[in-house]
Amino acid sequence: MPKWKNVFVTGGAGYIGSHCIVELLEAGYDVIAVDNFANSVNDNGEAISLKKVEQITGKPVAFYQCDLLDKPKLEEVFSKHEIDCVIHFAAIKAVGESMQFPFMYYKNNLIGTINLLEVMQAHGCQQLVFSSSCTVYGNPEHLPITETHPTGNITNVYGRTKFFIEEMLKDVSAADKSWNIISLRYFNPVGAHPSGDIGEDPTKPFTNLMPYIAQVAIGNKPYLTIFGGDYETTDGTGIRDYIHVMDLASGHVAALKALQNEHLRLKVYNLGTGEGCSVLQLIKKFEEVTKTKVPYKIEDRRIGDIVSMYANANLAKEELGWQAKCTVEEMCKDFWRWKIKNPNGYKTDAVKQVANGTTHTSTSVTQNGVHK
Ligand SMILES: NC(=O)c1ccc[n+]([C@@H]2O[C@H](COP(=O)([O-])OP(=O)(O)OC[C@H]3O[C@@H](n4cnc5c(N)ncnc54)[C@H](O)[C@@H]3O)[C@@H](O)[C@H]2O)c1
Repeated sequence: MPKWKNVFVTGGAGYIGSHCIVELLEAGYDVIAVDNFANSVNDNGEAISLKKVEQITGKPVAFYQCDLLDKPKLEEVFSKHEIDCVIHFAAIKAVGESMQFPFMYYKNNLIGTINLLEVMQAHGCQQLVFSSSCTVYGNPEHLPITETHPTGNITNVYGRTKFFIEEMLKDVSAADKSWNIISLRYFNPVGAHPSGDIGEDPTKPFTNLMPYIAQVAIGNKPYLTIFGGDYETTDGTGIRDYIHVMDLASGHVAALKALQNEHLRLKVYNLGTGEGCSVLQLIKKFEEVTKTKVPYKIEDRRIGDIVSMYANANLAKEELGWQAKCTVEEMCKDFWRWKIKNPNGYKTDAVKQVANGTTHTSTSVTQNGVHK
């Protein structure tokens, strides 16, 4: 049984949050989750993803529709529970959108985090796991990337919000020794829970590679566009470190355990497999596993795209006792199971439009790799 009981999860209705909550409930934690449905399906104030999580685990989740920018509401929810620690997933993350609407990104991600940290501090709860990203490394100076690689040389606003939050966490933990924080730098999360009952279902336009491959495989898009086929990689296409979302989820449970065992002040860990996989390799594996065809076209490189990015994940192995276990094949299989069982995600597109005042259609098919 964990020493801490109540975990407060921000952005819990989202992709990684919902998968992580499955792992938390199964590890014996109780979960209090908040989300404002900026990028997840809203069913009259209920999170469908979390209803599914309850079905998978047979355990309840206390959910509140709450925007981190609404500090009084956040304060009210926090006061209702004895919170032991917080996992902070809530953020908006679309790279292209962040370049068009920088205020929106800085406000949501930075002010949202400041509100959260202030409410936590006021309640004497200073244990935090933060969702960071390999995007903080910018263009890699060496591969595989270790946690000591310089950060901050980033070309997009979304990535800078993650970098600025990491810098802020350094400052708050230097100012107040009570903070006990782990920042997890995710590489490229893909896949879905093996039940096929929860998965990735964003309400904003997305550019992640695997959902696009699946859209093409299922016949919703004619082909995938790959930007850059002449990079200095094994097959000329960009390389990323894809990690199964359930491995990522277990990384959070390991981080919570580490925070309970020792007062760490502030630590940073990469969560990746340590293996690079090219766009073409991922397409090939996906076709093999799902017995589908994914036609693609190769176009010119895009300015600013990173060629190769993969983790050195040894530190998490040594200090958190965590290691990614799933293969790319399992990532494809599980993603496809979710897609086949739920071709329209958590709801039909029509209902989704009404619920969120948004559509699920994407404007551009873009892919070299993902800048998150
Ligand atoms: N998916 C990736 O490729 C990836 C990679 C690296 C880091 N991350 C980070 O991991 C975290 C989770 O990502 P995800 O893929 O699950 O994204 P997601 O969009 O599926 O989940 C984030 C959730 O946060 C919610 N949210 C956003 N702003 C909010 C606010 N102000 N108040 C309350 N809720 C809010 C959204 O509605 C959404 O449900 C994010 O911080 C993201 O930046 C994701």
